Amino acid sequence: MLRSRLIGTGSYLPARVLTNSELERMVETSDDWIVERTGIRERRIAAPDEATSDLSVAAGQRALEAAGIRATDLDLILVATATPDMLFPATACLVQAQLGATKAFAFDVSAACTGFLYALSVADQYVKSGALRTVLVIGAEVLSRVVDWSDRGTCILFGDGAGAVVVRADAGERGVLSTHLHADGALWDFIHVPGGGSRHPPSDAMLQQRLQFIRMKGSETFKVAVRALEDTALEALKANGFAVTDVDWLIPHQANRRILEAVAARLGLPAERVVMNLARVGNTSAASIPIALDEAVRDGRVTPGSLLVFAAFGAGLTWGSALVRW
Ligand code: UT7
Repeated sequence: MLRSRLIGTGSYLPARVLTNSELERMVETSDDWIVERTGIRERRIAAPDEATSDLSVAAGQRALEAAGIRATDLDLILVATATPDMLFPATACLVQAQLGATKAFAFDVSAACTGFLYALSVADQYVKSGALRTVLVIGAEVLSRVVDWSDRGTCILFGDGAGAVVVRADAGERGVLSTHLHADGALWDFIHVPGGGSRHPPSDAMLQQRLQFIRMKGSETFKVAVRALEDTALEALKANGFAVTDVDWLIPHQANRRILEAVAARLGLPAERVVMNLARVGNTSAASIPIALDEAVRDGRVTPGSLLVFAAFGAGLTWGSALVRW
């Protein structure tokens, strides 16, 4: 039986740090409020000339190096993003050219903060069926371009960044054990960017109504998120006959520290088993799980044989999980 083994990870964060005290000068907020309600202290902001494909290429190159393979070995490149360089072509095609991955086909996956898990699941289907051998899965966002910097309910949360994983077919026990994906489109308006697409195409009126920016029902999203993350983490464990006590690391989408602590408490998982980097990175949507994973691999928390639960939720609404034997 073939499995999707994760053979290399990489991540990239833009150099510019935006601190809470800088946000205090932009909107009516305080460092205390942001830290207490979200756990976030700072986030990264892409340079004016950096777009999502640039962040993706940097993270992708690091993942290829870690895996010890060449770009020309790739069969497929997936980029999970809600902030593509442009409406089309896919950001994944721009990344394919930049990396020189001449053999790979390439497309984007749009599932907002759950995007990395949707993309990992797509890669896993291709790999375990034997159709493809090597896939680069990237989660990347430049959310700072769609954040309304006058809306204190959202601008404090989001950051820019990219993470990447090389997935390769392997006959061993290590790799993706299962993936579990969900959506409830009836709740599409919990988090959305209304303008810029075919519903509200770019126009002066659209810009005046600020439809090009993120809108979010924060507290409604919060409640759904806690339940969805708990349910989908348990679903992944149950599907493979594991208990919470078997988990080495929960690597969740970095939405809000209070959400992640509530999920850990409900699961009965010690908070020390949750990989959290949102204090430094903020919420980077589709990039958040692969960035957190890369950091935990490189600093030695994740070691061969570790049992990992990835879990995410976000706009769509979408949510899901993956169980991985490292
Ligand atoms: O990746 C998925 C994306 N979405 C999420 O994960 C979002 C999930 N939701 C959240 O993280 C939280 O709901 C927020 C951090 C967005 C907001 O925290 P909250 O504890 O749910 O606050 P709230 O929206 O219920 O607002 C409480 C109060 C309000 O004031 P009043 O009406 O009680 O006077 C807000 O206006 O806090 C106020 N507030 C702020 N105050 C200072 C909202 N944002 C801020 C702020 N600074 N930045």
